[in-house]
Amino acid sequence: MLVNTIDILKDAREKGYAVGHFNINNLEWTKYILEEVNKLQVPVILGVSEGAKKYMGGFYTVSMMVQGLMKDLNISVPVVLHLDHGSSVEVCKEAVDAGFTSVMIDASKYPLEENIRLTKEVVRYAHSKGVSVEAELGHIGGSEDGVSNSVFHARLDESIKFVQETGIDLFAPALGSVHGLYKGEPNLDFDTMKKIHDAVEVPLVLHGASGIDDEKIKKAISCGISKINVNTDFQIAWHEKVIEFVKENPDAYDPRKVISSGEGAIKEAIDAKVHLFGCLDS
Ligand code: 13P
Repeated sequence: MLVNTIDILKDAREKGYAVGHFNINNLEWTKYILEEVNKLQVPVILGVSEGAKKYMGGFYTVSMMVQGLMKDLNISVPVVLHLDHGSSVEVCKEAVDAGFTSVMIDASKYPLEENIRLTKEVVRYAHSKGVSVEAELGHIGGSEDGVSNSVFHARLDESIKFVQETGIDLFAPALGSVHGLYKGEPNLDFDTMKKIHDAVEVPLVLHGASGIDDEKIKKAISCGISKINVNTDFQIAWHEKVIEFVKENPDAYDPRKVISSGEGAIKEAIDAKVHLFGCLDS
C-alpha cells in the first residue's frame, strides 16, 4: 500500500522507534528493498533524489516502477514514495503530480524567511493532494548527487518558528550529520535534537546516517528521531560484493549477473538497519 508518512511516523514518534528512509538508485535496488521490508513486515520510505530520478528517467518512470513492483511482488507493508531534497517548489509539485506520496522541499540554503515562504507553498500544494512534506533547517554537510555543503546547525528558536509557520509534517534539523562518508567521528548535537523534539509536535528526520555507529543511532532515536535516511552504507555494501564478483568472474558480461551479485549484501544491510532502528519490535 502506497501511503504518506503521517501515520507511520506518528506511530514511530509515539513508540520511540525509527522508520528507514532508504534511497533507491535503480530497479534492482527498489526490488531488493521492497522484498526485504516485506519479508520483515516493516514499513519503508523509498527516497528518490533528483539525481536518481534523472538517472532512472523521470518521476513518472519511478512512480510507475514502484507501483508495478509493489503489485507484482505482492508487497503488503506500507510504502512511502518520497522525493529527497527537492530543490524547488516546481520539482516538488512535479513529484506530487507523478504520484509521489511525500516530498521534501530543501530550501535550507535560503535565509529563514525565504525558506519558510517556499516551504509553505509546497505544503499548500502537497496537502491538497494528501501528500506529506518534509523540510530542512541548517545545513547537512558532505556531498549528495554532486551538491556539497558545509555543516551548519539548526537553532532551537528558529526550528520552533519554522515548524509552526510552515505546517510541515516532518522536520529535518541539521545537527552535525553529513551525506556520504564522514571525515573523522560524526559529531551530532544530541542536546539540541532532544530540545527540538520536545518543543515541536512533528517527527524528526536524521539525514546522512551512513557511517554513524550503532550507539549514536540509538541515542538519536532516544532523542526523538523517527525517520533515518540511509544511502551510502548500502552502496558500499553492494560495491564490495560486486567488486569481488567481477574479480572472480571477469568474463561475466550479463548486467543482471553483475548487478545482482550485490543483492544479498544490500538485503543484509537493510535487515541490520531495520533491527537497529527498533522498527521490528514495534
Ligand atoms: P547517506 O548517503 O550519508 O546515508 O545519506 C543519505 C541521506 O541523507 C539521503 O537524504
